[in-house]
Amino acid sequence: MYHKGYVALGIVLFLALLAMPYWVTAGKIKYEEIEKELAPAKGKCVYDEEWMAKYHMELLKDWRELAVRHGVRHYHTENGDFNVSLTECWKCHDYNNFCAKCHNFMDVEPVCWECHYNPSMNYSTVNYIK
Ligand code: HEC
Ligand code: HEC
Ligand code: HEC
Repeated sequence: MYHKGYVALGIVLFLALLAMPYWVTAGKIKYEEIEKELAPAKGKCVYDEEWMAKYHMELLKDWRELAVRHGVRHYHTENGDFNVSLTECWKCHDYNNFCAKCHNFMDVEPVCWECHYNPSMNYSTVNYIK
């Protein structure tokens, strides 16, 4: 006797595989389109460019945990020494023409700036975390 659940799962997997070339390339084309329009940065990033493009959000979440839960404020990689802080990014990156440009294009809206400072803000009246 067939198990309905497995049959349904099989169909879903089959359709997902069929569609794969579309969703794989969709992501790639989008990224390459926007990448050349981003403001260039100086120095060396925390990790290499490709890794950063994919995982910077994970890095920032790790950093939050390191700083807030473990009191670790310095971070060493083969590219150098970094302060464990969102403000570290502004040493080399322009918020509007780098972070926000890509986020807008990719339709991502990080909520961090309700509390954290970024250089595009007018923060004279509010005490952001710096
Ligand atoms: C509701 C307010 C709030 C929001 C929203 C928020 N944070 Fe924070 N964050 C804090 C506070 C408070 C600290 C502790 C500051 C300290 O001890 O230096 C902190 C600390 C951090 C730190 C380590 C220290 C530093 O100064 O950067 C990182 C990294 C961080 N948050 C990342 C993020 C990211 C990424 C987001 C968005 C996805 C985010 N936070 C959203 C309040 C917030
Ligand atoms: C010492 C300078 C420096 C610091 C600090 C730095 N970056 Fe970078 N970052 C670079 C450089 C150089 C590149 C290579 C690409 C370029 O020139 O735009 C890069 C690349 C990236 C990329 C990939 C962009 C792409 O075109 O694929 C992301 C995402 C990124 N950084 C995010 C961050 C975040 C988030 C922080 C803060 C935690 C940070 N960077 C801190 C210098 C830095
Ligand atoms: C090349 C494109 C690109 C650049 C440049 C970029 N980001 Fe992102 N960022 C993304 C994408 C795409 C996501 C969503 C990833 C996901 O949801 O898995 C994201 C997610 C995030 C998140 C997590 C949001 C959340 O609510 O979980 C944070 C925080 C973040 N980016 C911070 C930054 C900062 C700070 C910079 C600039 C220093 C930056 N990003 C530059 C593409 C980029």
